[in-house]
Amino acid sequence: MNIIRVKDAQEGGKKAFEVIQEGMNKGVKTFGLATGSTPESLYSTMVASDLDFSDKISVNLDEYVGLSADDDQSYRYFMNSHLFDQKPFKETFVPDGKAADLDAECKRYDQVIEDHPIDIQVLGIGQNGHIGFNEPGTSFDITTHVVALTESTINANKRNFEKVEDVPTHALSMGIGSIMKSKKLILMAFGVEKADAVKGMIEGPVTEELPASILQKHDDVVVIIDEAAASKLK
Ligand code: GLP
Repeated sequence: MNIIRVKDAQEGGKKAFEVIQEGMNKGVKTFGLATGSTPESLYSTMVASDLDFSDKISVNLDEYVGLSADDDQSYRYFMNSHLFDQKPFKETFVPDGKAADLDAECKRYDQVIEDHPIDIQVLGIGQNGHIGFNEPGTSFDITTHVVALTESTINANKRNFEKVEDVPTHALSMGIGSIMKSKKLILMAFGVEKADAVKGMIEGPVTEELPASILQKHDDVVVIIDEAAASKLK
């Protein structure tokens, strides 16, 4: 793991942007993208840049079950408003949280990932060590699946909703098996509430109880963390 320590999320977003820019210079075509507050500084840096993404593809990690693209809490809405509306891509994929048949939607999304192998995957991390919506206990081999969100995740994400009852209980998530097939991974974490997860990811055993610990087995990972997120590291 290449661990880069930064002052704050703003500087972290700039570092991640540099990695993306370097990838673009080498002909990278397909990006795996993430939602959450963590990548916001990366996306605003991309929007402010003069880089052209109009021949690039993006494949997002996850989506809440039951939320449509025009729901302002959906991850499709987040991606459109934070990035795609301002920086057009050739094609963008996000799982369909409103699909009538969720199992069929998982299969369709696996095909999307197979058709568009991810060159650079951007990741945040949950307080419990989840990546995408792969919660603790999820098999490392899994592909796209329906997830029952844990209490920890629902509580962490409720800040974006009016009340906790509004937070969807289920999501569709790209699996860890697919994430690990990406050629390069960039994981960002900012803030003290991520410190335990970051410690487990970097220094702990590789265990399905802390999904991000699998990154220790990937040979091209850039971890970008601020001092607060790094505060529990040895
Ligand atoms: C959500 C997303 C993850 C994200 C995590 C952390 O549960 N599914 O992809 O990494 O939360 O979110 P944040 O960046 O807002 O802390």
